[in-house]
Amino acid sequence: MSPHPASPSFHVTRTLAEDATEAALRADVLHGLTGTPKTLPPKWFYDARGSELFERITTLPEYYPTRAEREILLARAPEIAAATGARTLVELGSGSSDKTRHLLDALPQLSAYVPVDVSESALRGAARTLLADYPALDLHALVADFTRELTLPATPGPRLVVFLGGTIGNLLPDERSAFLAAVRAMLSPGDFLLLGTDLVKDEAELVAAYDDASGVTAAFNKNVLSVMNRELHADFDPGAFEHVALWDARAEWIEMRLRSVRDQVVKIPAVDLVVDLAAGEEIRTEVSAKFRRTGVERELRSAGLELTHWWTDAAGRFGLSVSTVSG
Ligand code: AVJ
Repeated sequence: MSPHPASPSFHVTRTLAEDATEAALRADVLHGLTGTPKTLPPKWFYDARGSELFERITTLPEYYPTRAEREILLARAPEIAAATGARTLVELGSGSSDKTRHLLDALPQLSAYVPVDVSESALRGAARTLLADYPALDLHALVADFTRELTLPATPGPRLVVFLGGTIGNLLPDERSAFLAAVRAMLSPGDFLLLGTDLVKDEAELVAAYDDASGVTAAFNKNVLSVMNRELHADFDPGAFEHVALWDARAEWIEMRLRSVRDQVVKIPAVDLVVDLAAGEEIRTEVSAKFRRTGVERELRSAGLELTHWWTDAAGRFGLSVSTVSG
């Protein structure tokens, strides 16, 4: 229920069971730490401390994607508004909704904003300030996992679904095509997708973005172990792991890993698991795929979407595309 009785335009709909997150974490850990190689999905980075560390990452000199994407959004927001005529803006993984303001400011005909996030607290926090700044907007927050099927509220079209930050790169290829198919399923003819994708570039520049000199990304990576300790009563010693960031030139993605500095045994009582790690053994904690325009266009087309606009920042580091339902 809305905690803002003075703001009739604010609704929250939860399609994610309160205990679904807990069950998903257990399943991911059981599956990921008993497989070869060992993996943990990147979505578990983002507890309060992880979200704070990620915010710091976006301000690091080495981490260019956030600035590059903001540059494109600022420059192209009027074109995005003209090309889409959007009356509803749906943002997947909206978080603090900070970057969205460039779009909200540029879309005069907009009547509804639908932020979608797994974090109800992030949604309520963002809503509080958005309501003050955009009082005429119908704000309909969805607490949902956007990698699953989504039912959107009945707000006016055309709809513009936005997925920013290059977060699509954190999905594995199979997950990516399933995700794009799910996005296609929520769109009607005349609706649009705005997608941010980080681009393939010089290896040194890519690796530096994921292994910054001040160690913030290393702390962000290791934070996932603290999440396991708190949520699953595990006994990971973050000091017994090293941060690793490497470029896989064949897959064209950055991998983050945690490398065990010694032979060790980790207990994870909540899932009844004992994990043996050899010295030098690594747990993959994230892939961050980098794209080329041709690949983005091909993946969109496979999902039934047709790329209509493509922009990059001046330095050509990041791409922003608009696509629409294929006729
Ligand atoms: C969540 C996609 C924006 O993959 O670049 C930042 C997460 N990981 N540094 C990315 C991340 C390490 C980030 N995104």
